[in-house]
Amino acid sequence: MESLQHLLLLTSLLLVAGGGIGFIPQVVGADQEEVSIVHYQPEQVHLAFGDSLRDITVTWSTRSSPNASLVNYARNYAKDKLIVMKGTWQRFVDGGHKARQQYVHNVILRDLEPDTRYEYSCGSELGWSPVFSFKTPPAGENWSPSLAIFGDMGNENAQSLGRLQQDTERGMYDAIIHVGDFAYDMDTDNAAVGDAFMRQIETVSAYVPYMVCPGNHEEKYNFSNYRARFNMPGETDSLWYSFDLGPVHFVSFSTEVYYFLNYGVKLLTKQFDWLERDLAQANLPENRAKRPWIITYGHRPMYCSDEKEYDCDGKLETYIRQGLPLIKWFGLEDLFYKHGVDVEIFAHEHFYTRLWPIYDFKVHNGSVQQPYRNPKAPIHIITGSAGCKEEREPFSNDLPAWNAFHSNDYGYTRLKAHNGTHLHFEQVSDDKDGDIVDSFWVIKDKHGSYGL
Ligand SMILES: *[C@@H]1O[C@H](CO)[C@@H](O)[C@H](O)[C@H]1NC(C)=O
Ligand SMILES: *[C@@H]1O[C@H](CO)[C@@H](O)[C@H](O)[C@H]1NC(C)=O
Ligand SMILES: *[C@@H]1O[C@H](CO)[C@@H](O)[C@H](O)[C@H]1NC(C)=O
Ligand SMILES: *[C@@H]1O[C@H](CO)[C@@H](O)[C@H](O)[C@H]1NC(C)=O
Ligand SMILES: [Fe+2]
Repeated sequence: MESLQHLLLLTSLLLVAGGGIGFIPQVVGADQEEVSIVHYQPEQVHLAFGDSLRDITVTWSTRSSPNASLVNYARNYAKDKLIVMKGTWQRFVDGGHKARQQYVHNVILRDLEPDTRYEYSCGSELGWSPVFSFKTPPAGENWSPSLAIFGDMGNENAQSLGRLQQDTERGMYDAIIHVGDFAYDMDTDNAAVGDAFMRQIETVSAYVPYMVCPGNHEEKYNFSNYRARFNMPGETDSLWYSFDLGPVHFVSFSTEVYYFLNYGVKLLTKQFDWLERDLAQANLPENRAKRPWIITYGHRPMYCSDEKEYDCDGKLETYIRQGLPLIKWFGLEDLFYKHGVDVEIFAHEHFYTRLWPIYDFKVHNGSVQQPYRNPKAPIHIITGSAGCKEEREPFSNDLPAWNAFHSNDYGYTRLKAHNGTHLHFEQVSDDKDGDIVDSFWVIKDKHGSYGL
């Protein structure tokens, strides 16, 4: 104990000598593993939907290894008898030269009552988190989920985060979807940037399920930071999965399996097979009758409004849309068209774009007056402007004819799925103090395959 204190003091002195004020937080914050501080305090708390909507997964990190992963919860934490749920933990070692480690804890709260607010605290007898709360979704399909959706939010310049935190604290959302590219990057500085990011989003992610898909910025060490820190439904290391929320079937997939083939072509083929099965199932008439909307999200878009993207060059071709170069296998546009996907959400480009209904570079409006009423092809949205250190992206000078609306403002998308016929989207501009810079209805009397 005493030697630890000496070491701390020595480190502090060295830091002072090495430069500047504000040294104390740095000792504890930046390099705690080097002075082997014991740290059982839960941090980076975040939620996700489990395999069923009645299950909520609670995930957090501790620096030292405690002897348990527990969540205590109740409707009224102060008054009710607490239910104790046990989970598991795993040691995660970052791939950087410091091999920095942490323990990621995962507890599934099962068979929760629908439409109910629960209060919870996670940790172990060695340290507990504050009391957070979440509300479970109502049972069945006949309710109207609200979500915030965005991609490309970093640790630095996370301009939309404050507004998202306020929205969340005011109970505006049933779930958040972060469409890839986190922290910039989670592995940076031996994963200290990932920790800082996960701490920053806690005000959101400890209160509503924070659903994710991988982006190119997660690539390091075979997506190890992404896979270790998030716990999405299914058994695929959070790389692809689906879940139902009210009248919507959401499908999450990895666009990165098309680019980082060095981690295994098998991931690409497995995901493609899974997508085919999942979409065919969701598109069965009895399932569509119950849950009419199918919405997909993946990081890199099929269509770009930005010519500098290396996979959106003069040929305007992307692997996601057409499949692997030359052989054209595993393209997603035909698959999504065939199974009648209604809306496809992407990010990666640091702006917001709404497209007219599109298939194979041709616009397929419902009608000229009402393009989004019974559209004859999926509607694509690119929402990658939450804010990150790589800043905004410019649009091409000649915008393609399928570009219906675009904005360079930092912000995020809101979706309210009113019912089986009506979806409403809004684009929030953080630059314009929360103004809605774009909004539109998608109206469909009938859902199903567009053809093929
Ligand atoms: C964990 O450690 C605490 C404090 O030492 C102890 O009270 C508790 O019984 C331990 N729990 C388990 C499951 O070993
Ligand atoms: C990368 O991780 C995935 C699991 O997410 C695994 O299936 C694959 O084999 C890994 N690739 C390599 C090269 O280790
Ligand atoms: C689709 O609808 C929009 C809005 O009315 C219109 O500007 C565009 O030209 C239409 N495109 C086609 C191909 O009909
Ligand atoms: C669906 O929601 C829209 C928008 O709120 C509403 O106008 C419409 O009447 C609703 N349809 C049904 C069947 O409730
Ligand atoms: Fe990206």
